[in-house]
Amino acid sequence: MAASASSVNDAIAERIKPVGDVCMAGSDCAAAPVAAAPSGPRSGAEVYDTKCFTCHATGAAGAPKVGDVDGWAPRIGKGIDTLYTNALNGINGMPAKGLCMDCSDDEITAAVDHMVASSK
Ligand code: HEC
Repeated sequence: MAASASSVNDAIAERIKPVGDVCMAGSDCAAAPVAAAPSGPRSGAEVYDTKCFTCHATGAAGAPKVGDVDGWAPRIGKGIDTLYTNALNGINGMPAKGLCMDCSDDEITAAVDHMVASSK
């Protein structure tokens, strides 16, 4: 017995219907994956790459350039705790927290570690 035309059409419609609601960019659907929120502290490299590099990659405002071993040696010689303190509180042209006001202290010290490790 041949299937009727309408039952064939129903079967096709069933097969080609969307498996889920398509979520268009810009639409407000609850199932849309949200942009990954920061899930923990940023790494020192991330903080450096987004905040500190503006001065420390270029030497702007007299900032010691990352990778400038001679420029960093006397600073490293002061001890890492002094560098942490000065990065957190600021010193001369170095603004407190390197202007990263939403950085935790741990994120700042991680950025200092990253800069020091890249400069010796
Ligand atoms: C607006 C420019 C600017 C930004 C942004 C900036 N710095 Fe600096 N930084 C400076 C300057 C200028 C100095 C040199 C200060 C001095 O010793 O006179 C400095 C010095 C430092 C020193 C050496 C301090 C010492 O005791 O010798 C550290 C460590 C440091 N910055 C870390 C950071 C970190 C970490 C960030 C990002 C979170 C950052 N800086 C962002 C300008 C900046």
